[in-house]
Amino acid sequence: SVIDTSCIVIFGASGDLTQRMLIPALYHLYVDQKLPKSFAILGVSRSIYSDQAFRSKLIKNIKSDKKINEELLNKFCEHLFYQAINTSDVNDYTLLKKRISRINADRELKNNTLFYLATPPSLYSVIPEHLAAVGLNEETDGWKRLVVEKPFGSDLKSAVSLDESLYRHFQEQQIYRIDHYLGKETVQNMLVLRFANSIFEPLWNGRYIDYVEVTGAEALGVEQRGGYYDGSGAMRDMLQNHLLQVIAMVAMEPPAVINAKSMRDEVVKVLQCLKPLSQDDLENNLVLGQYIQSQVRGKCLPAYREEEGVPNNSRTETYVGLKLFINNWRWDGVPFYLRTGKRLPTRVTEVVIHFKKTPHPVFSADAPENKLIIRIQPDEGIMLGFGLKEPGAGFDAKEVAMDFHYSDLKETELLTAYERLLLDLLKGDATLFARSDAVRACWDFVQPILDYQKKSFPLHGYASGTWGPIEAEKLLNRDNHEWRFPCKNLTDTDY
Ligand code: BG6
Repeated sequence: SVIDTSCIVIFGASGDLTQRMLIPALYHLYVDQKLPKSFAILGVSRSIYSDQAFRSKLIKNIKSDKKINEELLNKFCEHLFYQAINTSDVNDYTLLKKRISRINADRELKNNTLFYLATPPSLYSVIPEHLAAVGLNEETDGWKRLVVEKPFGSDLKSAVSLDESLYRHFQEQQIYRIDHYLGKETVQNMLVLRFANSIFEPLWNGRYIDYVEVTGAEALGVEQRGGYYDGSGAMRDMLQNHLLQVIAMVAMEPPAVINAKSMRDEVVKVLQCLKPLSQDDLENNLVLGQYIQSQVRGKCLPAYREEEGVPNNSRTETYVGLKLFINNWRWDGVPFYLRTGKRLPTRVTEVVIHFKKTPHPVFSADAPENKLIIRIQPDEGIMLGFGLKEPGAGFDAKEVAMDFHYSDLKETELLTAYERLLLDLLKGDATLFARSDAVRACWDFVQPILDYQKKSFPLHGYASGTWGPIEAEKLLNRDNHEWRFPCKNLTDTDY
């Protein structure tokens, strides 16, 4: 669908997300001529800047990108404006409304407005309420959309009450909850891989699949975000949203058509089938860890507890390993192992589907079983591991691979997650945004873990640059399974 002219209002304009992600993504869309001829971006926050000062501040960030085109950058900047307001003060919203009207009139924009909340979550219910107080939620003369960044609540109760406060002023179809993992090309491709190829789907169930691994590993620590992260931990920061969304893509039933309703109906159905965690699961199928001070390649890296903004007795997890099940016809009895953590050996996100062994070992008993590795990032690709006869005498099998890399599609540059999602926001396509019932289903599933963490629970230390606590290995070994230990490059892996 076509993109209407619109004004993109970004709250939290002086923040990190705006500068690192949103503005560069909008700039790239502009360069690729994906934005309408007429549009405006209005940054809003407390700090005082002139339009010009705001532009200069943002330019610095965009310029770190090497392929910059100065002329286009200057033209792009003409679309950028800034308005300082006290976001918590309802009186300032009259000023904001006037500014939006003036920009729309000057640039001949329709009255379509995207309100992007790139602010601390404490403002998620305040801003919509104040927008409504001055009528900026009304769609009488153009659409009004509200974009909410994660974290969407901090537990089940707060997520429900956040919804309630948003619904007082905006309708569900005006609300877009961003989970940037859904904007990743490789996450979306999971659906095409499964539902546009007839060779995988017949095998995509507990009869042929032994177990599934989902890894979201990061090499970095918490960097400058200790203050935020300590109240969140890996569970809320990665698992409750990004990893469970990936699980939904791997495990959902085929939607009848690809549109926002059909897709999101299937997503929520599978998330509601996640088997509730019992006390036994919490004690035996969950591994929580925190990185400790360690030497990595000759460098001494601080412990999590020594990071800026983190209390020195913090019990926040920087690693989670979890075994879960999906209670439905397709997945009954198939374990899904999830792990995510900071300061692991490398940055990699991937899904590994482990197929069952053949029913009878005609060749050697240890012939490798098939694996399908869906590499979400980096070096995006898909690899199918299969057994080949070891050339020469005998019938020993060894594992080889069919291997596709997105980088082979030379002329195609992948849109970043934010580019893709911003385009969808402007088009009003909610397919790749989390619907309220799905967010609740995710909180519903992790709530027992959050409750468990309120009491005393084992938190295992792990050295930076390792794959997390040893207990996480045991979690799989107990079931005669193993984590894959991915390297940076698909081609030099030990699959
Ligand atoms: C964010 C988390 O949502 O996702 C970060 O807050 C994490 O802590 C990031 O680093 C990971 O995203 P990506 O796209 O780099 O895998």
